[in-house]
Amino acid sequence: MNYRHAFHAGNFADVLKHTVAALCLEHLTAKDKPFRYIDTHSGIGGYDLASSEAQRSPEWQDGIGRILKADIPAEAAAALDPYLNIVRAMNDDDTLTQYPGSPEIAARLAREDDRLHLCELHPSDAETLDQRYRRDRRIKVAQQDGYAALKGLVPPPEKRGLVLIDPPFEDRDELAHMAEAIMPAIQKWPSGTFVFWRSLKNLWAADRFDQGLSEWLISDLEFEPEKILRADLWVRDLATDGKLAGAGVVVVNPPWQLEGKLLGLMPWLSDLLAQDDGYGWRVDGGITEADVEQGLED
Ligand SMILES: C[S@@+](CC[C@H](N)C(=O)[O-])C[C@H]1O[C@@H](n2cnc3c(N)ncnc32)[C@H](O)[C@@H]1O
Repeated sequence: MNYRHAFHAGNFADVLKHTVAALCLEHLTAKDKPFRYIDTHSGIGGYDLASSEAQRSPEWQDGIGRILKADIPAEAAAALDPYLNIVRAMNDDDTLTQYPGSPEIAARLAREDDRLHLCELHPSDAETLDQRYRRDRRIKVAQQDGYAALKGLVPPPEKRGLVLIDPPFEDRDELAHMAEAIMPAIQKWPSGTFVFWRSLKNLWAADRFDQGLSEWLISDLEFEPEKILRADLWVRDLATDGKLAGAGVVVVNPPWQLEGKLLGLMPWLSDLLAQDDGYGWRVDGGITEADVEQGLED
């Protein structure tokens, strides 16, 4: 396990993932009933952008850095606000030095009776995470394999909540591991909201994952196609080798306003975060019912 999120915290991929996570969590707080947040790959909870890792690889400057300098139109602000309010609350007015990881976003949006279960496998990262939340009785930090733990963590007693699956993609078979872990979990908790982050380094593999997941949900679990949403952003031509050029999320059981909010955000966000002319975005269901019928006929 060589991956250290500190090198990437606040980059374009974090911006989209954390915006979506914050919108899903905000939706859960609209009802007066507790929820559970499960983070299978938590990282350390918060990132110091002045650290040597963030200074050596200042990806955040082309992510959250650009957003905080921009004039944000109302349609984009409607989607970004729950996330940006947290980033702003962690920093002084003019300087950005602290960036929230997914656990911190959940911790700040969760209420007194909500519960967080944070898995992190890396021993020193798990220790850092535990130190951060040790005194917060709503939060349990577990040094464990989030994939292996997931099936046993769902459905949670609250029966409502969000699972974020945000692996490092160090392993070529990461999408296969993700599929293996999530299928039994969704089967056990079909009403939970699940957010899967995946890189678009291999667009073909990401599309195959999305399509396979959607087909399975629609034909085996009788999901309506609108219960699956994906949002992807690429800041450079996806065919360029090297650094991550694109990434996004697949959301199962998205809150009903999520698609509209992301459609309001993405045209502006992709222009703002573009690094070359090959940039773009998509927000869609990944697959339609007709595709599934067609696929089943083939
Ligand atoms: C992309 S980072 C997570 C970032 C975090 N979700 C956020 O948004 O702030 C992935 C993390 O997963 C951890 N990790 C890798 N394999 C894991 C596994 N099987 N179970 C739990 N954590 C794992 C890594 O140590 C790393 O901290």
